[in-house]
This record gives sequence, C-alpha cells and structure tokens, in this order.
Amino acid sequence: MNQDILIKTVARLVMQPKGILAIDESLSTCNKRFEKLGVPTTEEKRREYRELLVTAPNIEKYISGYIFFDETLRQSTKDGRSFISVLESKGIEVGIKVDEGTTEFAGHQGEKITKGLEGLGERLKEYRKLGATFAKWRAVYTVGNNLPSEDCMKKNAEDFAKYAKLCQENDIVPIVEPEVLIDGEYTLEQSYKATARNLEVVFNELKRANIFFLGMILKTSMVIPGKDAKVSVSNIEIAQTTVKCLKEKVLKEIGGIVFLSGGQSDEDAIKNLNAMHQLGPLPWPLTFSYGRAIQNPALESWAKNPADVALAQKLLVQAAQSNSLASIGQYK
Ligand code: 13P
Repeated sequence: MNQDILIKTVARLVMQPKGILAIDESLSTCNKRFEKLGVPTTEEKRREYRELLVTAPNIEKYISGYIFFDETLRQSTKDGRSFISVLESKGIEVGIKVDEGTTEFAGHQGEKITKGLEGLGERLKEYRKLGATFAKWRAVYTVGNNLPSEDCMKKNAEDFAKYAKLCQENDIVPIVEPEVLIDGEYTLEQSYKATARNLEVVFNELKRANIFFLGMILKTSMVIPGKDAKVSVSNIEIAQTTVKCLKEKVLKEIGGIVFLSGGQSDEDAIKNLNAMHQLGPLPWPLTFSYGRAIQNPALESWAKNPADVALAQKLLVQAAQSNSLASIGQYK
C-alpha cells in the first residue's frame, strides 16, 4: 500500500467545490430505469447514454470523479475514445463499483448482504491497470421491527473491511457505502438510531482490519425518515441530525464523507447538503456522490428526445453545478 497515492486520490476526489457522479447502475438497474422511460434496454443504448454523461462539456468544474459499472469502464465514444481516456483528459478520477449486488441474508428475512469478494483482488489489479483510482462497495439495510439486525450489520461490516483492505493493497481508494434504504414508514429518530448503530459496527470492523482511514471515503445515506412515513421534516432538521450522527460515529481522520441521494427528491438532495454546510466548520470534507439526483433531468430529457444530446448534457451540468454550490453551502 502506498499511503501517499491514496491520500492524493482522496484529496482530488473531495476537493471543493466538487463531488462525485455515480453512473454505476448495474445492468438490471440501468435497464429498469430505461424501461420506465421507454428506452430500449440494449448495450448500445446504455453506451450512448453513458457517452452523453461522460462527454458533457465543462462538467469537470463540478465533478471530481465518476463511478462506473464494469460494462461502462470498457466502453468508448462513437468516435473511438475510451470513456476512461475522456475522463482522464478532463482531470476526472475514474472509479469502479466492485460489489456484485446483494443477495438474501440466509435466516434473516427481509435483510440482504453484499456479494463480490471472490476474485476481488484479481479484479482490482485489472481495474487499476485500466486506470481506476477508486472503488465502491455498497451494502443495504432495511429499517423496521428490530431491523437492521446486529448479525446483518456485522456481516456487511466484515465484508466492507475485507474489500477496503484489498483496495488499499492495490493503491485504490475504497469508498465504503452503507445505505440505509429509504423504503418504509420509519421516523427520523429510527433512521438516526439505525444509521448510528450501523456506523459504529462498520468502523469497529474497519479498525480491526487496520484500514488506513485517511485513504478511504465513507459514502452514507443521510438521516431521513422513510419515504412512506407521514411526517414532514425540514431540510435544516435533516442536516442537523445527519451531522450530529456523523460527528458522533465517524473518525475525524477519515479522508472524506460523501452522500448518496437514495431516492429523495433532487431538490432535497441539494438543500440537505447545502444546509449541512451552513452549520459551521465540519471535521471532514463533506460532499455528494449522487446518481439519480444528478442524472434524473438528463435521463428524462434524453429518453424523450435522444437526438438532443446537448440539452440533456446542459441539464446534467446544471444539476452538477447546483450540487457543487450546495457542497460549499452557497446554493440559493
Ligand atoms: P443514488 O444517488 O441514486 O442513490 O446513487 C448513488 C449510488 O451510488 C447508489 O449506490
């Protein structure tokens, strides 16, 4: 492990006023989103859409890194430039989702664990050669009656630690992504409890595995009530609760913290992040790593009018710019 390489990659990823764009939807997730909008679910359509995202003019002012899925990492523009080379020419870091999705957690109804450790060392070596400088591994947690269970949190945390160790051994910055799923009727308080306890469990395992904290990034869900809860919570309250939880449970020494958007509205994702940056100085760099909250307007526009790539790109860059402003507390 070369600590210097890891620290420098982290610094480039969390450099203000930028954040990360996640375009790492698996084949099935990408196809589901395409189907909803009537876009054919072919490899060529996925390539065409990702080309639009990768080549958007001036997006490098707001975005420090893109997270790819394996298929996308190997794709090229219509005129033959690899997506990796396009990003590198703009000074954008190339990231790769390396988990292989989730599976039922045997004996624990309603809970999932993440797959993908088998052969991971070899895959990371290949990704590094291709140009990836950071990686991502996501685990999901359901909030409900006695959920998430201690067993589920522990199993996912152990796997996060194994993944992060392998990444760092290959000079790849690990993004550790525990996502408390937005589905359900749970309250802000329940969301806080689940997130806080889970972060404790995750960091216990990361410490036990001797992870180099300055060379990793935490990607977390915000502390928000479930989407079916019939409560209205202000952006300020979400910001305060999230920052309180992170200050209590995340080491100051971590390279940075980024958020997923997780199905909240595009506007809330911006306003919540903006509000966090108005709470005063924070102990760690804090920015976004959104998928849907940045892509939504561009994808909808392109699905309706695939010929107008320029319009879709304009919408993408606008969303990236709004989030960039939020990442320094200057979104109006
Ligand atoms: P969303 O912002 O759409 O939740 O995606 C981020 C991500 O990387 C999910 O794993």
